[in-house]
Amino acid sequence: MITWGISANSHDAALAVFTDDGLEFASHTERFSGVKNDAHLNKEIVNYARQWGEPDEVIWYERPFRKTLRQIRAGQGFNFRENNINRYLRQYDISAPIYYTDHHLAHAAAGFYTSPFREATVVCIDSIGEFESLTIWNGDENGLKRIYSQSYPHSVGLWYSALTQRVGLKPQEDEYILMGMAAYGDPLRLFNDVLHDFFHPLDDDSFKQIFFNTPTIKLKHNLHRGCTWWRPDLTTEQDMFDIAAATQAVYSYLLKYISNWARWKSPSGNLVLMGGCALNCSANGSIKSDWNDMYIMPNPGDAGSAIGCVLAHKKQHMPIPHMYTGYNIEGEYPVEEVLHELLTTGICGVASGRAEFGPRAFGNRSLLADPRGTDIKDRVNTIKRRQKFRPFAPAVLEEHASTYFDGYVSPFMQYTATCTDLGLPAIVHGDGTSRVQTVSANQSVGFRKLLERWYEETGCPILLNTSLNIKGKPMVNTVEDAVEFEQHYGVKVFT
Ligand SMILES: [Fe+2]
Repeated sequence: MITWGISANSHDAALAVFTDDGLEFASHTERFSGVKNDAHLNKEIVNYARQWGEPDEVIWYERPFRKTLRQIRAGQGFNFRENNINRYLRQYDISAPIYYTDHHLAHAAAGFYTSPFREATVVCIDSIGEFESLTIWNGDENGLKRIYSQSYPHSVGLWYSALTQRVGLKPQEDEYILMGMAAYGDPLRLFNDVLHDFFHPLDDDSFKQIFFNTPTIKLKHNLHRGCTWWRPDLTTEQDMFDIAAATQAVYSYLLKYISNWARWKSPSGNLVLMGGCALNCSANGSIKSDWNDMYIMPNPGDAGSAIGCVLAHKKQHMPIPHMYTGYNIEGEYPVEEVLHELLTTGICGVASGRAEFGPRAFGNRSLLADPRGTDIKDRVNTIKRRQKFRPFAPAVLEEHASTYFDGYVSPFMQYTATCTDLGLPAIVHGDGTSRVQTVSANQSVGFRKLLERWYEETGCPILLNTSLNIKGKPMVNTVEDAVEFEQHYGVKVFT
């Protein structure tokens, strides 16, 4: 049985292929089309997926009719034709039977069924599914049971995106930049303004909260079209940093509130956090100690639902040790070539093996650099052409992480930890934290070997690791993309 899971026709589309052996392939469509955050499928990814055979069934990550109703309610018009998925898939010659899952069930299933837990409470926070924006589930051997649901227009994700736009960034795309800006602002200056201008009090005496004690979070405004009208007096660069800091602090406060309620309702004490908001690595750590254990799927947004919708359909546990599920560049990982270049010039790219599924590069499509010294951050920033305040992430040999970092760390850069070494400014953010990737042998054998060799040669178990992409384009996918990067920036890329 060949099953395709598809998340598309909205933003950041993805396709996953399952056979009887499990997950064979998952990738964002943007990697094949070259269009960043591509909302649609393309012939190239569909043809690549066909190497495992024609699909016997397709699982779609949400319910298009309900989505259409919400779009009508939101004043976005009658999109029945655009949301006709049969018609949509026929453009790509996909004619297998289609099954649909709830948007938030796909999020919850992507988390629960890939987690190491047999019992867990799942919290999903995003902008909007069909209608839902926050759901809480309890999962056990009987599957997933929704215990709380909150709907549009009340949405923490939509609010975070609106503030992303307010500071001059692109909503539904640049939220991670807002998170990075927060380290350079004063969270206290605007915390109360942001909280009270946008949200009703959390202890609101609404019927639902009094009688059912629910974690209802109500917005004062519908933020579907942003909040560029908010506080026109705030215009300077420092104002933008302060808005970002307050937004991040309010998000952490709301996350804690949701987490506390979910913890109270959780029989197992295990948390799975999902939805686009679960990419907020600065806030994720703030709730971890409240739970016995916590898991975040490495691609928790809508693209990850290409996997999630299939697992919701199959109701099948399938823990995933890594996220190297994309396009394959065949051949040995070029350990010695990369090592030599790093020792000589301090910086180079690598594109080898299967590409990462998710927004982050974990060593198979990475721009790597020597993290020591004061000039490397500027050198990498110059190549990446990005804002100077943005930090780079460290990849560290798992067994050395506690020597350099104090706090939560993960193989998928899902938390931030305080860096205790003063000699690595390139991988430390303005608030003294780092978004750490721990590297063990059961993930990428090649990248692990490279780090081991780097440690042998330098005594430093850390490399600066950032995604290998030309500004404004998705991550490098193929050898041709790697050559284009090399020619564009004059930085060697080994494949
Ligand atoms: Fe979502």
